[in-house]
Amino acid sequence: MGDEWILRAEDKHLAGVYQKFPVSIVRGKGALVYDAEGKEYIDCMGGYGVSLVGHCHPRVVEAIRKQSQTLITCHGSFYNDRRAELLEKLVKISPKGLERAFLCNSGTEAVECALKAAIKYTGRSEIISMVRGYHGKTAGSLSATWNPKYRRPFEPLISKNFRFIPYGRLERAEEAITERAAAVILEPIQGEGGVHLPPEGYLEGLREICDDRGVTLIFDEVQTGFGRTGRMWASQHWNVTPDIMCVAKAMGGGLPIGATLGRDEIISSLRTGEHTSTFGGNPLACAAASATIDIILEEDLCGRAESLGRYFMRLLRGMVEEFEVLREVRGLGLMIGLESRLPIRRVLLRALEEGLILLYSGRNVIRFLPPLVIESKHLARAAEILEGIFADEERSLEEGKAPSA
Ligand SMILES: Cc1ncc(COP(=O)(O)O)c(C=O)c1O
Repeated sequence: MGDEWILRAEDKHLAGVYQKFPVSIVRGKGALVYDAEGKEYIDCMGGYGVSLVGHCHPRVVEAIRKQSQTLITCHGSFYNDRRAELLEKLVKISPKGLERAFLCNSGTEAVECALKAAIKYTGRSEIISMVRGYHGKTAGSLSATWNPKYRRPFEPLISKNFRFIPYGRLERAEEAITERAAAVILEPIQGEGGVHLPPEGYLEGLREICDDRGVTLIFDEVQTGFGRTGRMWASQHWNVTPDIMCVAKAMGGGLPIGATLGRDEIISSLRTGEHTSTFGGNPLACAAASATIDIILEEDLCGRAESLGRYFMRLLRGMVEEFEVLREVRGLGLMIGLESRLPIRRVLLRALEEGLILLYSGRNVIRFLPPLVIESKHLARAAEILEGIFADEERSLEEGKAPSA
């Protein structure tokens, strides 16, 4: 049976908030996924960076199977073995000093808790966020998300206590971050905004300013965390430790789980009942996350992200030299952006036809967030597919048939 019924049912009943691709994914293994008709795709999107250890990693599958037969739910008001085990592993791999965590179910929730903890701890009200920053779409995190397209329709929910400063400009941070600020929140490497790396000295400078003025430094590592950039945490490339770190996406090997990790005194400023979650820290998600951390460490996925990232960026840089329509490659590890001079939606649709799933950042940046277990032959094939597509794009440009969005 084909997949028309799947598309029909979702189009009819699912909230129309996702930019849909006309493909139904029903199965996955490692860096490959399959549609209802069995067509294979190389997954360079990884569910927006979730499937870092690959789809259906056998150790994650086994951890879920075992835990699902033991205990699926256990509210945070009781103690639980899987939760305790995960907390110990998580703190062990986290930057030094971040030793207390709130467990939740998504990136946006991890950010909500971080903002509340910073406000509670400092007793201040202002939050400084970054132009092009992305932190989620619930009220607090949406207030910290820059793109006006996401914020404007929901003005009544948006807090007036948030200020945006340009990412990467230390002199602007120096002016804007005052003793009124509870926190500065940023992604160490901006993802949704187009894969932008911090200029030399930027994160170190922010750390100093925050220390100087008693401001909480929050790193949102929801996308960059768990080895994606070639280190366990992106902040480690610059040796800067935040006061609070938000994580989610890859954490559960595909199951929904997130965490807000912070210094003890900051997270402990949240008192009983002030911030809770019914599902947060449930044993099933904790078992999956525990297995995920083991896989990242034992399969040296950080090292793999670093070497495969270097290899893939070399292929992409070759394409930038070859094709006028391409502007630049940016990234670290397997978090990579390829900027085009033209809108790229057409490229994404062509790639899909050829069995390659890509992600975008805005209109003209292709973002790659593949599983770190991807094989180099798949990356080589991805580059080959893209090369063919961009050759066609240039040809149609030369023939005056400018590609449309
Ligand atoms: C840096 C960052 N923070 C927060 C979020 C929100 O995460 P979620 O969609 O799980 O709520 C995202 C999602 O893309 C993200 O990239």
